[in-house]
Formats: sequence, structure tokens, C-alpha cells
Amino acid sequence: MPFLRFPDHFLFGSSSSAHQVEGNNIHNQWWHFEQAQDKIKRGEKSGRAADHYTRYQEDFQTLKELRHEAHRISLEWSRFFPESPDNLNPEAVEHYHNVLDALLEQGIEPFVTTFHFTIPQWFAEMGGFEKAENIRHYEAFVRFLGEEYGAKVRYWCTINEPNIYASFAYIIGEYPPGVKNIGLALKVLNHLIKAHAKAYHILKAAQPNAQVGIVVHLPVFAPLRKGNWVDKLSARCADWMFSGILLEALKTGKIHAPVGFLEQHDFIKDSNDFIGLNYYVRMFASPRHALATALNSLDEHHGVFRRTGLERLTQSGWAVYAKGLYKCLKRLHTKFGLPLYITENGIATDDDEWRKTYIRKHLKQVHKALEKGMDVRGYFYWSNLDNFEWSYGFEPRFGLIAVDYEDDCKRTIRDSAWVYAKIIEERGFEVEEKAPKELQENTA
Ligand code: FCB
Repeated sequence: MPFLRFPDHFLFGSSSSAHQVEGNNIHNQWWHFEQAQDKIKRGEKSGRAADHYTRYQEDFQTLKELRHEAHRISLEWSRFFPESPDNLNPEAVEHYHNVLDALLEQGIEPFVTTFHFTIPQWFAEMGGFEKAENIRHYEAFVRFLGEEYGAKVRYWCTINEPNIYASFAYIIGEYPPGVKNIGLALKVLNHLIKAHAKAYHILKAAQPNAQVGIVVHLPVFAPLRKGNWVDKLSARCADWMFSGILLEALKTGKIHAPVGFLEQHDFIKDSNDFIGLNYYVRMFASPRHALATALNSLDEHHGVFRRTGLERLTQSGWAVYAKGLYKCLKRLHTKFGLPLYITENGIATDDDEWRKTYIRKHLKQVHKALEKGMDVRGYFYWSNLDNFEWSYGFEPRFGLIAVDYEDDCKRTIRDSAWVYAKIIEERGFEVEEKAPKELQENTA
């Protein structure tokens, strides 16, 4: 049986974000949004989330046992500046020093995100990223982070999934401020691209040897009806609007319409040392879906993820398509020629056997990319802990480690976590010559 070996320098780890695991992030816009009963499934609220704020030491100890070599976290802006941009909270400064020290003591490389969907409520109230003049507040925050934590952090992720943030907060309306306004979504995306580039230069100035990159979420868009040219065209349009314009701006500095109008900025061009890829889904496009999205009436959200109706869906309603991971890596490699990290990839399920298969299937695609000469440097499973999955609440179970919310957030390591640990320890895993049925891709 062939053994898929990963290079020694390849980093295996997991990914998380502050609001989803820490608990009691009472000063950000998400907390406020959750208080309105109809916003989150079953009216859930993040509350104490996975209680990671108080248990980070124990959690990192567990990651060490599970052989993780790197871990992605975000530093919560609203903890540092809870009430205004002028009053720094010293408790938060100390807390995150302790968090980073705890990771480093375990020999785990921190990857730190500066913006992972949450902003302080005061920033949201002044319009957040809707207004160009507000970007300076984010810049000041990033400058502060670089100066304060630069000695402990080598890898910085600037902005998590600007395309998801802009569309979920301003088109689908599932994230705060929960509005449906395409014009605003385009504006926010434009500003986030600029905010990313500014953050890049600020962090590099503070710490020239830092590695700084954006994190993009790339779905694979495919025609709903195979071979149908109208659906193919819809898939191309959806891809260009969602991913293409963003990637093009990051590469060339040109922000195409309708996200920008005749905008060319040298400071955006080549503003990445690496690209972080979050990969989860394939989405099927047709004019009907495109129109429904544009008119904000995407009633059957799930329709976008299934072609035959027979695909098995995860708890977040997504169909698994591992081959897409290779496709996205290839796309990024071809466009940027930069080091790539898979900053998120994971599955929400109670079926832990499925999670094991999922991890192996996706790592197989990563290995293929390495074999083809792509510079892929790491894989971060989403997520180490079960957590608060935004508007889906607590139901989706993404964790390698289960969290019992009914029993004081008790942790239980799932078997899949040990399977992943073994892969890390052995620097790879064996695969059958011909993939068994369970590992074969459902391309129906
Ligand atoms: C990504 C987000 C992350 C998590 C996963 C499941 O889009 O970056 O916070 O919600 O999806």
C-alpha cells in the first residue's frame, strides 16, 4: 500500500476563532446581534461558548498530546478596546500574552488572525467596514498588535474570509448587521481588501521577518446541470463575483467593477507572503439560484449544495467534495506562486467515522498538490473544539474534541483526533492502491 508522506517542514494543526470558543465576548457586534431572538437557530447565544477563555492552558496541553504543531487563533479586538478606540484594557493585553506563551511553551506555532468576523460594538455603531474612513481604527488595532505581540507571533492572518463576511452580513443577512443590501456588500468587500493590504504593510513594518497573509474562502462553483451552458455561465459569474474579483485585486491591485470602479492600488498588489485557504464546499449554480441570491430570496439554501438531492449533507447542510481542495490549491498556486496554508477545512458531524474519512480524503488531495510541486506548507483542521457556529448556533459539531455544553463544557477527545494525531506523528498515512468505496468521491 502506498504511503503518502508529508515533508518535515509541513505544519499540521487546527484552527479556531475567539468568539466561537472563548465565551463572554460581550463587547462585540455578534454578542449584541445574538440577543435578538430570531437571529440564531433555536435562539441560541454564544454565552460561555466552549469556555476556552478560562481553559486555554488545558486546551493547548491537549493539542500537544494530539501532536498538533501549529494552532490558529484570533485576538478579539473588542476585548482590547471594549468601549472606545482610546481605552485599552490591560487585562486583555495580559491575557493574550498568556495565551501566546501557553502555545509557545507547548512548542505549538501560533497563527494569529486580526479580524475573524467580530468587531467592537462601538466600531459597528459607527458603520464598521461600511465606511472607508473607519478603516483607520482597524489599522490602529493592527499596529498595536504588531508592536505588542510581534516578538511572539511570526505568522499573521490579516482578515478571515472577506467574501463570506461581506455576503453573509450584507446579502444573506445571517451575520450582523443582518441587512440585505448588495451595494453595501460590495462597498464592505472593497474596504476589506484595502484594510487587508494596510494591515499587511503595518505588520511588515513592525516586524520585517513576519509572514503575513489573507485568508480566503473558496468554494468550487459548478453548473447545476452538467454540461448545460447556461448553468456553466452562471457558475463562472458566481465564481468571478465571489472569488475572482478578490483574488485579482490581491494579485494586481486592480479592484474590478462592481466591487471597485477603475481602481488600481499599488499598495494592494502583492500584499501577501502566503495565502490562507479555507475550503469546505462545492456550490451548484444556475440562473435561478443566481437570481434568488441577487434578489435576496434564496429560500432553499441547501439546493445550492446538492445536484441530485441524494448527496449526504453535513450538519451545516454542506455536501463533501474533497477533490475541490486540490482544485482550489492549484488555482491559488497558479495565480500567486506563493506558499499556501489550508487555514481551515473540516466537517460538522456526529458521525466520527465520517470525520476520519473526511480528513484522510482531504489530506490525500493536499498530498497530490505537493506531488505536483505546489508549495503547500500546512493544514489546519477546523476545529479543535466543538464551538459556536455563528448563525447555526451550537448544533454543528466540527470539533476533534467534543464539548458537552450541558455538563460544564466537559471535553472528550474524539477518535478522529487520534487518527489525525497518528497521521501527524507518522508524517503521513497509507492509502489503498484503488480507493475503497468510502474514499471515492461522489461526483454524481
Ligand atoms: C468558516 C469560518 C469559521 C467557521 C467555519 C465552519 O467560514 O471562517 O469561523 O465558522 O466556516
